[in-house]
Amino acid sequence: AIDPNFEQSREQVGEEDGVAVWGPVEPPEKQGIRGTHVAVDFDICLADGACLEDCPVDVFEWVDTPGHPESERKANPADEDQCIDCMLCVDVCPVDAIDVDPG
Ligand code: SF4
Ligand code: F3S
Repeated sequence: AIDPNFEQSREQVGEEDGVAVWGPVEPPEKQGIRGTHVAVDFDICLADGACLEDCPVDVFEWVDTPGHPESERKANPADEDQCIDCMLCVDVCPVDAIDVDPG
């Protein structure tokens, strides 16, 4: 599962399309955690897609990650600012790749 304390245990190594990237990142095998309020561990995500289907405000967008061992696309929390903290995505992700930090 995603480490809920990633903001302490990891370093922000950059930003992609306005979404924070938390390392370590070594493409294609290591993609790190993306997002802050809504965070997705790209190294755990296996592209189930439930988060994209169920988020009522469409926070997530597919991004391609060719060559990643778990899946070749990931759910990027591109519109995390829109999140209403309903926690649906956290509940439906089969591999607990998502952390939402209300407040
Ligand atoms: Fe979308 Fe709810 Fe998850 Fe926020 S907590 S990203 S609103 S499903
Ligand atoms: Fe990935 Fe979980 Fe969404 S596996 S696509 S973060 S439901």
